[in-house]
Amino acid sequence: MTILRKLQLSAAAVALSTTGVVAQEVEVLHWWTSGGEAAALNVLREDLAGSGIGWTDMPVAGGGGSDAMTVLRARVTAGDPPTAVQMLGFSIQDWAAEGALANLNDLAAEQNWDDVVPAALQRFSTYDGDWVAAPVNVHSTNWVWANTALMEELGIEQPGTWDEFVAAMQAAQDAGYTALAHGGQAWQDATIFDSMVMGVGGPEFYQAAMVDLDPEALGSAQMVEAFERMAVLRGFVDDNFSGRDWNLASAMVANGDALFQIMGDWAKGEFINAGQTAGEEFQCFRVPGTEGTVTFNSDQFAMFNVTDAAAMEAQAAMASAVMSPEFQVAFNTVKGSVPARTDISPEAFDACGQMGMAQLAEAAASGGLFGSMAHGHANNPSVQNAMYDVITAHFNGEYDAETAAQEMVTAVELAM
Ligand code: BGC
Repeated sequence: MTILRKLQLSAAAVALSTTGVVAQEVEVLHWWTSGGEAAALNVLREDLAGSGIGWTDMPVAGGGGSDAMTVLRARVTAGDPPTAVQMLGFSIQDWAAEGALANLNDLAAEQNWDDVVPAALQRFSTYDGDWVAAPVNVHSTNWVWANTALMEELGIEQPGTWDEFVAAMQAAQDAGYTALAHGGQAWQDATIFDSMVMGVGGPEFYQAAMVDLDPEALGSAQMVEAFERMAVLRGFVDDNFSGRDWNLASAMVANGDALFQIMGDWAKGEFINAGQTAGEEFQCFRVPGTEGTVTFNSDQFAMFNVTDAAAMEAQAAMASAVMSPEFQVAFNTVKGSVPARTDISPEAFDACGQMGMAQLAEAAASGGLFGSMAHGHANNPSVQNAMYDVITAHFNGEYDAETAAQEMVTAVELAM
């Protein structure tokens, strides 16, 4: 990194950008293509437009980001990286290790990112002590989204245990509803698996299996039980789930066709986008058994090394905008996530958002905060993909629970 480049990715560049002296534009690769996601993306696009920064959209459909990462690799291999890329956890680290990401240290120092971004996020936003990404939010994956009218109709209270959760789904199924809205895609299967592992084994087990990749934990009786619970969930999913997008599953809950969805809080963006309110038409609660813990992921924007001065200025302006407290409120209240900064008041957030912020802080303080495996924050992309394959094969009936746990051991060992 040259000194010139470092200077350009700083507030001086931002100031220049707002004068409109240089025609600036960012090309943003992202996977925010659902209704709620697009609404949140627009907040960012308009924020930048207000500073005279143009936007070239590079959307890659497919939740969870796997497809986006494939497209990114192709663009970089072709020598044509986008200027800014939505990225998760260990992927940021991999790209930084390749030397592909711009250094944001000057901007971070000017804006005090060290003090306002929590350590759990800095672990991914920085590489080798350098800031390489600007975190937009914190999502968490261990949520249940529920249709309030259907709960009332079926006489269901928010379940507090796994058995109560199963009984509630049974009541919905018996009444002819879809008990669990789900889309059969590997990343969605993996998202619910995060919660089954945490629910069965608690924080120590999650850490041992998903983060430390301890073969004993991966092949343990607890892992077998996590897979058994996945099979129970599979029994509550409707016949047409295969290939369904996650937001269509959220719509099933919003429309009252399905009782529950287990999904990250981007699902809340869909309910809001449908004109619904947290605590009224829909409600949120932690997956029974995971209370007190939070499995999180954080969307961050990494800036790829470019040589064009105007593009560098636009990158700095975008990173600066993303980190502004006002933007973090405006964006995250729409997206369903909570701010990446610790100095934001919960006031503007709805009931689920306020709960999410409080629980995130509690989990961080009590050792209950863990990176989501499904969303790239527990282990590296090759291990994650190996886990995806086993989880999905089991969900589709290819393995029984015992075999799946054994396959986890083997697949992870081969991927490490
Ligand atoms: C991202 C969210 C996104 C979700 C579904 C997650 O990996 O962190 O921002 O809404 O995937 O596309």
